[in-house]
Amino acid sequence: MKEYWVKDISLADRGRRRIEWARNLMPVLSKILDRFREEKPLRGLRIGACLHITAETAILAEALIEGGAEVSLCASNPLSTQDDVAAALAQSGVRIYAFRGQSVEEYYRCIGYVLASSPHITIDDGADLISTIHKLWYGVKSRELAYVQEILQDRDAQDLVREVIGGCEETTTGVIRLRAMAREGKLLYPVIAVNDADSKRLFDNPIGTGQSALDGVIRATGMLLAGRDAVVVGFGNVGSGIAHRLKGMGARVTVVEVDPIKALRAVMDGFNVESMKKAAEHGELFITATGDINVIRREHFEVMKDGVILANAGHFDVEINKKDLEELSVGKERIAPCIDMYVLKGGKRIYLLGEGRLVNLVCAEGHPYDVMDMSFSLQALSAKYLAENRGKLPKEVLDVPKDIDRFVARLKLESMGIELEELTEEQKNYLSRWEFGSE
Ligand SMILES: NC(=O)c1ccc[n+]([C@@H]2O[C@H](COP(=O)([O-])OP(=O)(O)OC[C@H]3O[C@@H](n4cnc5c(N)ncnc54)[C@H](O)[C@@H]3O)[C@@H](O)[C@H]2O)c1
Repeated sequence: MKEYWVKDISLADRGRRRIEWARNLMPVLSKILDRFREEKPLRGLRIGACLHITAETAILAEALIEGGAEVSLCASNPLSTQDDVAAALAQSGVRIYAFRGQSVEEYYRCIGYVLASSPHITIDDGADLISTIHKLWYGVKSRELAYVQEILQDRDAQDLVREVIGGCEETTTGVIRLRAMAREGKLLYPVIAVNDADSKRLFDNPIGTGQSALDGVIRATGMLLAGRDAVVVGFGNVGSGIAHRLKGMGARVTVVEVDPIKALRAVMDGFNVESMKKAAEHGELFITATGDINVIRREHFEVMKDGVILANAGHFDVEINKKDLEELSVGKERIAPCIDMYVLKGGKRIYLLGEGRLVNLVCAEGHPYDVMDMSFSLQALSAKYLAENRGKLPKEVLDVPKDIDRFVARLKLESMGIELEELTEEQKNYLSRWEFGSE
């Protein structure tokens, strides 16, 4: 089996420097790494991870390895790999199969290499690794699976699944897919929804993606956000973070939502809330963050103004309907590394950033390190929890245990030198009783 498959191993030095810089900004994960080095909670386990290959992922991999695991990595998106980081990991002996600009075939072959390592624990960002295992088990046939099977050769799905003790999932879209599997009674092993932990979804999604999605838009276009007529589609954890940051930078922000509570929240946070059809008529910059399919499509492209810019922050490149855009276009040109210009009949131009894939990872460097410090600390501790509870957990989508969630938040505060107030005994008593009332 290949030991690694990266773009250019000579980039390793640059990657190592980038990883060292990330380490400075990831004090919580570094602390967990030190503890793992002493305690070896993952001794003897093989971990297969399908994540964005960034400097933060390198530190997570190191923590897992220090914990005693053997780690194999592939990318969770064909365009999000930092090739220098991948090279540094390969040079340090990690089995890594990832490079920026993978074809569908290469993407699935890389998943095949990770599966060929027979992981005991799977870690996903978007559920492509775990859903591949499940598709193999349930005998689904597809072109993508054929690439995986070519790598696995005569290994069968029974063999693979027998080895697995559990999985972890990093993002909302992945958790949605897992819950669908669980609903159909098809989930083959327990999976921890790391995304849903408070110390992940309340920070990584709004604050991390909020900042980094705008970083992606700015790096790709060099545009001024102040005064811009911006439309954010989806006002969930990610979309609300993007909308607030756009507003903070002076953009005039419209929100599009399908959920009445989220829409009401957006109104009361001071945003203009409209239907997609209406927003499409006036917006200048559109950012999708729904985890849903075709939220911007033909009927919207048709009414858009000349020169609009489209970007997506949701997990898959399905939110902006690229097929519709292609069909409406008479020409398409890559005018900058991250900008495709579509020219529609009649001459109208629509600019798509990062091929409609995660704008923060494709056009910038993904989340700030400090935020991934928390998300990946949860991943490391969830892997440890799976190892400690091997064979005892139900085949369901499980929450990160509350004590792990709060422990990560506590360590983060400590690393920032921030002291928490403590409840007094009297307050603990008061908050635990029902008899107190008006006197
Ligand atoms: N770019 C990143 O680095 C990054 C980070 C975290 C999450 N994500 C991804 O971002 C996406 C959103 O995640 P989230 O945590 O905000 O999810 P969420 O469930 O909190 O929010 C999604 C929102 O979109 C709304 N929505 C769904 N369909 C819609 C439609 N057709 N029109 C308008 N609104 C619609 C939903 O009502 C919901 O409020 C997911 O795909 C997630 O995996 C990306």
